[in-house]
This record gives sequence, C-alpha cells and structure tokens, in this order.
Amino acid sequence: MADTSIAAHRRTASRRSVLMCRPEYFTVSYRINPWMHPERPTDTILAVTQWDALYQTYLSLGFDVHLIDPVDGLPDMVYAANGGFIIDNIAYGARFTYAERQPEGPAYMEWFRDNGFDVRVPENVNEGEGDFLLVGDVILAGTGFRTESKSHEELHEIYGRDVVSLSLINPSFYHLDTAIAVLDPDPAPGTVANIAYLPSAFDELSLGKLREMFPDAVLVTEDDAAVLGLNSFSDGYNVVIASRAKDFERQLRERGYNPIGVDLSELLLGGGGVKCCTLELRR
Ligand code: ARG
Repeated sequence: MADTSIAAHRRTASRRSVLMCRPEYFTVSYRINPWMHPERPTDTILAVTQWDALYQTYLSLGFDVHLIDPVDGLPDMVYAANGGFIIDNIAYGARFTYAERQPEGPAYMEWFRDNGFDVRVPENVNEGEGDFLLVGDVILAGTGFRTESKSHEELHEIYGRDVVSLSLINPSFYHLDTAIAVLDPDPAPGTVANIAYLPSAFDELSLGKLREMFPDAVLVTEDDAAVLGLNSFSDGYNVVIASRAKDFERQLRERGYNPIGVDLSELLLGGGGVKCCTLELRR
C-alpha cells in the first residue's frame, strides 16, 4: 500500500541542489502569458528583495544554491526552471517558444557545461523544468502552450524513463509547474511520491492519468492556483509556497508537511512564482 494517508508518518527532508538567477534585469516589457501587462510598471528593486527572501529561505533549509549571472535584456531569465531539465548529471537544454526568451537557452547550456553537466542540445521546443517534472521514476511532461509533445519523445530517448504526457488547457496555467507541485522529490523505497494539482488545468485524458497515478493527490482550489500556489518547491518535508495560498498551506500541514510562505508578488507580474525561480540540479 502506498503510504500517503494523512499525517501517516514523519516526512523527511532531503538536501536539494538548485540553480537560481537574481532578477537584476527583471521587468515586464513583452506579453507572452496572460499574467504579463507591459503597460503596467514593475519594481526591479522589489523583485530582487523578494527573490532574495526566497534565496535566503533555501539557504536556511541547507540547500546547495548555485547562481547563474543574469543577462541584461533577458528580463525573464529569473525563471530558472525554464533553463533546462537535469537528471543523472545529464542536462537537456531548453529551446524556447518565443523569440524574446530564445537567447536564454544557450546561456543556461553554457552554465551547465561550465559546471560539469553532460549537455544535450534539444531538437524540439521545450521550456525545461517549467514543463517537465520528475516524480519518483516517472517524468510528467506538459504540452499545450509551450513545450512541443515531440520533445517528450526526446526526453524518453535521453533518460530511458517513462514519460507521461499531460495536456494543459487554461492559458493562465501555461507551464506544467503552474498546475502541479511535486511534494516528494526523493520518495523512500516502497512509497509513492505524491503531488498536488489543479484539476481544471488539464484535459479529460490527462486528468484520467493523474487520477489513476495519484489517487491521494492534494487538489488545490482555484483561488490558490490563481496566486500560483502550486508553483512551489518541496524538499520532502518543507514546502516553500506562495504565502497567499492559504488553503494549500492548510492541506499541506494536515498531511504532515511544513509549508513555508514567501511573497513573490512582483515576480507574479511576469507569470512566475517559487518553482519558476528554481531549477533542480540532479547530479
Ligand atoms: N514570463 C515567463 C514566461 O512566460 C514566466 C515563466 C514562468 N516559469 C515557469 N516555470 N512557470 O515564459
């Protein structure tokens, strides 16, 4: 039996290794998702201050946090999750959908190479860990708005793991990491890794797959999803979430996790939250 019953056992934290990018050049100067309004002003200093609180939170949890230099003219580079996808030291590079973000792909691949990762240059459009989530041994892969489903086959060839394709249908939840949160990054042997998700973000076929694979998943409210509450990062016990996602916070607590709220309101103006700012480095 999968051990996922409410507060059934003590959750264990595992030390994560992540890559982040300080939002020194953050602004909203184009519109590639419904959250972005280039006509409204942004506050880069506030973005950096809020991002720094997330960075300090990770350090206080004992994470190994690496930083990539931000590039002037790439305001979305702060969303490091889109920079690639890494398992077993193999970094599958990103190939962005929109021209505005395309130079980020090579910038991240250069960092991966310089830091000892085996880089695979992508053939198909994909936005990295924004649309690919490792859950146990399986890779959940999103498509619909950004990442092409052809890249799901590429992923399978590279990593030899099962890839489950999921179709996103709501433009506000355009990346998989805005609609699913992985709660157990390193499940203990014999246990099933759990997730949280927003059912209405998926088509019927995908929803069927999620219900079958994760019968005990946390289902979040539309209100919590609307503050990008699902865009969170868990070490297996501590779950860093948007501080405004109150019901998600309650559900996590009930299940024995330790939710930690942070406020990234300024980065939400670009359509990103906690997870978007975080790329896992799995050596
Ligand atoms: N403005 C960015 C874009 O639309 C936000 C990316 C958010 N990243 C994420 N992993 N969901 O591409």
